[in-house]
Amino acid sequence: MAVSIIVGSQWGDEGKGKIVDILSERYNIVVRYQGGANAGHTVQIGDQQFILHLIPSGILRENVICVIGNGVVIDPKALLDEIQVLEKAGININGRLLISQNAHLIMPYHKLLDSISENTSTKIGTTGRGIGPCYIDKYARKGIRIVDLLDKTVLEEKIKVNIEEKNNILKKVYNVEELDVSGIIKEYLEFDKTIDQYITDVPTYLNNAINEGKSVLLEGAQGTLLDVDHGTYPFVTSSNPTSGGACTGSGIPPTKISSVIGIVKAYTTRVGLGPFPTELFGNEGEKLREAGVEFGATTGRPRRCGWFDAFLVNYSRMINGIERAAITKLDVLSYLDEIKVCVAYESNGKLLKSYPTDVNKMMQVQPVYETLPGWKCDISNVKHFEDLPANAKEYLSFISHQSGFEISLISVGPRRSQTIEL
Ligand code: IMP
Repeated sequence: MAVSIIVGSQWGDEGKGKIVDILSERYNIVVRYQGGANAGHTVQIGDQQFILHLIPSGILRENVICVIGNGVVIDPKALLDEIQVLEKAGININGRLLISQNAHLIMPYHKLLDSISENTSTKIGTTGRGIGPCYIDKYARKGIRIVDLLDKTVLEEKIKVNIEEKNNILKKVYNVEELDVSGIIKEYLEFDKTIDQYITDVPTYLNNAINEGKSVLLEGAQGTLLDVDHGTYPFVTSSNPTSGGACTGSGIPPTKISSVIGIVKAYTTRVGLGPFPTELFGNEGEKLREAGVEFGATTGRPRRCGWFDAFLVNYSRMINGIERAAITKLDVLSYLDEIKVCVAYESNGKLLKSYPTDVNKMMQVQPVYETLPGWKCDISNVKHFEDLPANAKEYLSFISHQSGFEISLISVGPRRSQTIEL
């Protein structure tokens, strides 16, 4: 049975939510394996739009079981809000949501430290959701995990110790008001009442399910170039969105993975700071942003927009082991007379042989472009590949050849019906 990983191939916001929603119809289980409520996966069903931050996008298919893996950092308030929104929309969560006991909890001090860090050290342009500080505590072995919610005494003790340390830092280093221990303990004990029912030994559950022949889709958040190890460090998130992270973040061994599907936007976007060689500025960038409605699903921030970067996506293919890709938002490019594609980077008159993730090197590169003709017609209702205009087919063939993968799916609009399968 298939165990497939979905990865964002650029800087996030590739449209993973819609593709997971489409594909999850064919899977029994969908798992989120990293990140937290910094993600915003948008799914449009008819006139209803859902933006999922923590719960896998498979929740919108009634027969799919959804799992939040140990690699995810969970803000309980964001989770409860999301459950409420789904229940209000008539989506049944009961028995369909499982949460790993080993996932870490985002605490109020993580959000506070996230915003302080943005104002006092290198500004990354984070989502402010406390993601980095929570992963810092995880790797410093000070984190509070979902399992700790099950024991009141343990939870109280861990919160006390953590807040004592954080209050010291807040007061002595940043001169910020101290946090109230008892209020936070009360708030988190309250979460326990709702979250308890979902807590599961996820690795055992998933491995048993796979052994019984169930299929699993692992849903990555963010994108390859935001990976803390393989991205444009330090302008990255604090987890591993790449395919390797799917195993450590879920407890499924690499030997059980059958495929990696890359989600690739037909152009490039980035939110937050950091290098972006094919970025378009002024009127050109603004037009692309408007055409693609490129505003953050979590923060509402305008996304930076630019040409497709095949050199970058080829790197992403290599890091993730992508063989097949879903191309998203192809319809957005329909207004253009000509479309540029970056095929290489040049630095000091020389073509680069491999992708430079060192930020200082990246700041100096010049993209080398090839220009293709646009198709200048509405493709948002096209249902079959053969019916796409010749120039759109040519564009797809060019980017797939340059990036080194096959295209298995093309999205030409936000709705489920606006999807072409190959
Ligand atoms: P953090 O994940 O909130 O720490 O933010 C670190 C960087 O990752 C910032 O540049 C964010 O804009 C970016 N980022 C985080 N989550 C997403 C996402 O879901 N889509 C796109 N960018 C993201």
